[in-house]
Amino acid sequence: MLFPWTEEIGIDLGTANTHVCVKSGGVVVRESTAVAFQAARRRPICYGTEARRMMERQVPGVDVVRPLRHGAVADFDAAVDLLRHFMRQALGRRPLLFSPAVVVAAPLDASAVQRNALTHSLRAAGAGHTDVVPKALAAAIGARLPVAGVESRVIVDVGAGATDIGVISMGAVTAGCTLRYGGDDIDQALVRAIRRSQGVRVDPVSAEEVKIRVGSVHPDLGQDRVTLNGTSTNGNGGSEPTSIVVQGASELLLKAVLPIVGEIAWVLEDLPPKQRAEVEESGVTLTGGCALLRGFPELITHHLGIPATVAKDPLSCTILGLESITADLSALTLEGRRFASTS
Ligand SMILES: Nc1ncnc2c1ncn2[C@@H]1O[C@H](COP(=O)(O)OP(=O)(O)OP(=O)(O)O)[C@@H](O)[C@H]1O
Ligand SMILES: [Mg+2]
Repeated sequence: MLFPWTEEIGIDLGTANTHVCVKSGGVVVRESTAVAFQAARRRPICYGTEARRMMERQVPGVDVVRPLRHGAVADFDAAVDLLRHFMRQALGRRPLLFSPAVVVAAPLDASAVQRNALTHSLRAAGAGHTDVVPKALAAAIGARLPVAGVESRVIVDVGAGATDIGVISMGAVTAGCTLRYGGDDIDQALVRAIRRSQGVRVDPVSAEEVKIRVGSVHPDLGQDRVTLNGTSTNGNGGSEPTSIVVQGASELLLKAVLPIVGEIAWVLEDLPPKQRAEVEESGVTLTGGCALLRGFPELITHHLGIPATVAKDPLSCTILGLESITADLSALTLEGRRFASTS
């Protein structure tokens, strides 16, 4: 604890979803990472899930910005607006003597520029002292893996913009990588596949709807055929509304998640034999929204020959880990290692 009168908060600023927790107050913000601006004057109108709804409805005169791309801040000013709003929402209206101390999660191999963009946007939004912890470590703590143990565990956090693969032992990430590929890229793969097969252009929001409605990388585990409203290009070069049927969607989703399976294989292959034997036995734990795709763990087991499971409430693991870290900041060392138990 810095000072007894300083508020401490945890922030998971994800590409699609932002969560904020307050020390001893639980998770108080669960919103989309989006800001809606009045197009003419770039004045923020609303934030989070409300802004995302405006994006889905394509409200005229409104620009909706998603400030993160592939897990990194891409629009600094919009990120500051969003963080300032959510921090105020988390802390309420009470006056603070000092700026809140923040623990924020960042992708494992975020560059110095990306880290600076994150910490500077937090500072500009009103944060005080900021600790940056690896997202994989926070997700592993939130998934209730025994991170403080000597034996290595593997966490795979598949979000919207990136996949963090972390091998964790003794409270630290000892190996791993960030693949800048996640749910947004799976949506894009669907957009391309539908355009190729049917000549119809669907927007990424509709592609995401297909992904979630199909919800599976195996035809037996979900709905394989989805009807969707999209737009097609007519003979005059204009576009017109059309209804399309996407058939074999789980096969498309399977192909779209294979790069993630391949990357896990690379990380495991690079491990020293002892660590590798340990993780082959304990297996992989999946977190992040894309872990909700049914059949994903079975696919990993099929390709890599190791057990794979989905954590409870995978969308919340990173913030639950940050909540646990915030509750006992003294257990966090300067290098982001965490020794204390997760309970
Ligand atoms: N039921 C579901 N089935 C499949 N995918 C889902 C489901 N629910 C959410 N998703 C996907 O999960 C992703 C959002 O997950 P998450 O909130 O973990 O990402 P994020 O933390 O915002 O992103 P990142 O950590 O990559 O910056 C989106 O791509 C969304 O479409
Ligand atoms: Mg995330």
